[in-house]
Amino acid sequence: MPDVPGHSRIMSCMSEPAPATYVMGHNDRERRRLAVQASILRRFTEHLFCRAGITTGMHILDIGCGVGDLSLLAARLTGRTGSVTAVDMDPAALRVLHDRASAEGFQNVTCMESDIHSFQPANRFDAVVGRHILIHTKDPLRTLIACREWLQPRGIAAFQEYDFQQVTPCWPASPVRDGIFTLLNTFFARAAHANIGSRLFHLFLKAGFAHPDCRGEFPVDGGPESPHHEWLAEATRSVLPAAKAIDIPGASDIDIDTLESRLRDEARSGSGVPGPVMFSCFARRQ
Ligand SMILES: C[S@@+](CC[C@H](N)C(=O)[O-])C[C@H]1O[C@@H](n2cnc3c(N)ncnc32)[C@H](O)[C@@H]1O
Repeated sequence: MPDVPGHSRIMSCMSEPAPATYVMGHNDRERRRLAVQASILRRFTEHLFCRAGITTGMHILDIGCGVGDLSLLAARLTGRTGSVTAVDMDPAALRVLHDRASAEGFQNVTCMESDIHSFQPANRFDAVVGRHILIHTKDPLRTLIACREWLQPRGIAAFQEYDFQQVTPCWPASPVRDGIFTLLNTFFARAAHANIGSRLFHLFLKAGFAHPDCRGEFPVDGGPESPHHEWLAEATRSVLPAAKAIDIPGASDIDIDTLESRLRDEARSGSGVPGPVMFSCFARRQ
């Protein structure tokens, strides 16, 4: 992996044998989906970072960073005197983040290729952040306990996770969209931790954090031009191979190449199109 002096750095600490699997796959379409999703969720994450007190001079760890939207947001907040360490198992996603960080002139973003289950940082951090990563870990509580150990005393843990079991229906009804959410819920219940968002508060307590500050929210958009349709169609495309492999009902019947246009057509009714329910939670290490 390249190491560009004076710019963000990429390092690898993948151990053997490692490979954890990411059920949404590692490919350019999935990385683009992460970027679309990030543009929709950015204000929710900014709000979480603001509530949690992410600020100038902090040394911040972003686990499961993907193409790096949380890392870049953290780098903007922490400024030159702080730093961001961004960890992901996908080297191509890290290269995208590295290029984005360099383009923005950040010299304090270090990208590390690692399976989070075997990650062992050399330093402690002022904050550990993550979005949609605990859902993919083998044991979210163990990961959260490890995050707590990576924090300085009074350090901040801040996470955002979906709960696919709490689906807000469209009004007027939108059967194509509702059917996709049923499929995603069934899939994540089998392949990951579908209700991780609702569990966050409890997990924070079990991991040793006192007084977590937690709330649930979701974006609502509408109309045929909404980015929500690409977001949902591409999320479905990403999970489809794994969903078919474990025989999730309906997975083999989806015409994935027409899904986005069918969602757009359905939204001509003027219905509000809610995104998945997302929980945002933070707490300090005592
Ligand atoms: C849903 S994406 C979220 C990316 C980013 N946090 C965001 O919100 O845009 C999950 C990311 O976690 C990474 N990931 C999944 N399991 C991992 C593991 N065991 N170790 C390191 N990264 C992992 C994936 O490669 C992917 O980039």
